[in-house]
Amino acid sequence: MPNAIVVSLINMKGGVGKTTLAVGLAWELAMKGRRVLLVDIDPQFNATQWIVDTATYLGWLKNRHTVLNIFMPNGIEDIAPAKPTPASAIIPVIRGGHRLDVLPSTLDLMKLDAAPRGTENRLRVFLDKVRSSYEYILIDCPPTASLFSYSAFLSSDAYLVPIKPDPLSVLGLPLLERAMQDYEDRAGQALYLLGLVFCQVRQTEAMTDTMKLVRRQYAGQVFEDTIGQTTGVAEAADKNLPLQLSTKGGKFNEVKTALNGICREFENRVAALL
Ligand SMILES: Nc1ncnc2c1ncn2[C@@H]1O[C@H](COP(=O)(O)OP(=O)(O)OP(=O)(O)O)[C@@H](O)[C@H]1O
Ligand SMILES: [Mg+2]
Repeated sequence: MPNAIVVSLINMKGGVGKTTLAVGLAWELAMKGRRVLLVDIDPQFNATQWIVDTATYLGWLKNRHTVLNIFMPNGIEDIAPAKPTPASAIIPVIRGGHRLDVLPSTLDLMKLDAAPRGTENRLRVFLDKVRSSYEYILIDCPPTASLFSYSAFLSSDAYLVPIKPDPLSVLGLPLLERAMQDYEDRAGQALYLLGLVFCQVRQTEAMTDTMKLVRRQYAGQVFEDTIGQTTGVAEAADKNLPLQLSTKGGKFNEVKTALNGICREFENRVAALL
C-alpha cells in the first residue's frame, strides 16, 4: 500500500481562505473515493468545527484525543496524560455516503506555548504511523509562524498556498517565502511548493490586475481555477456540510466547479511530484 502524500495549507496571512480550501479539497478528494485525512493544527479549530458537528465533537472530547495529545502525550496542567492512537484521535465523518477522517484540534492547543524541545517532531511521528492508511493527508495550518506551522512543515512533503488576490495579502507572499526559508534552514530540508490557489476572488479590476501580476511572478505555480467569493460558504460551515453538498444554487455552483478543477490539478501536480 503506497504511503499518503502529506500537504500543508500554509499562509501566514489570516483569513485568506486556508480552511475553506482545506475542507473543500479534502471533501472533493473524499468524494472521488480517495482515502483522506484532514489534520487541524489551528487552535481556532475552524476546520474541526466545520466538518464535525458539535454534539459529536463534545462527546469526542470526553474520552478521546485531539491533536493536543499528540503534541503533549504526557499532559499539561489540568489536561490528563494520554497516549493517542489512530483510533483514539481520528474521527471518521460520513457525509453523502463519503468518508473523510479528521484529526481534530481544540482551543486548549493555545496552552501549548512553552513546549519542551522535540515537541515539533511529534506530529510527524504520529502521521508516519497512519500514512499507509491514506492517499492524502492535508494539514490546515494557523496563520502564524508557530510551533504548529513548523510541525506541519516537518510532517509534510509539499505545501499549498491559498491566497486572496488583494494587495495586502499579496504583500504577505515575500513574508511567507521568508518564513519557509527559515523553516528550511532549521530543518535542513526543503518543502516542495505545490502551488498557489486564489480564494475569495471578486471580479473587480484591482483583483484581476493583482491575479495577473501574481501569475506572472509565480509563473507555472498558480492553479488555473479560482474560488470566487460567494454567500453560502459560512452557512455550509455552520451546518457541517461539505460545500459540494450545499443546495445553494446560482453563483455557488461556480465554487463547486472550481473545487472540482482545483482537485484535478492538485492530483496532477502531486502525480508529477512522485
Ligand atoms: N469563497 C468564499 N466566499 C465567501 N466567504 C468565504 C470564502 N472563503 C472563505 N470565506 C469566509 O472568509 C472567512 C475566512 O476564511 P477561512 O477561514 O477559510 O480563512 P483562513 O485563511 O483559514 O483564516 P485563518 O487565518 O483565521 O485560519 C471565513 O469566515 C469564511 O467563511
Ligand atoms: Mg483557518
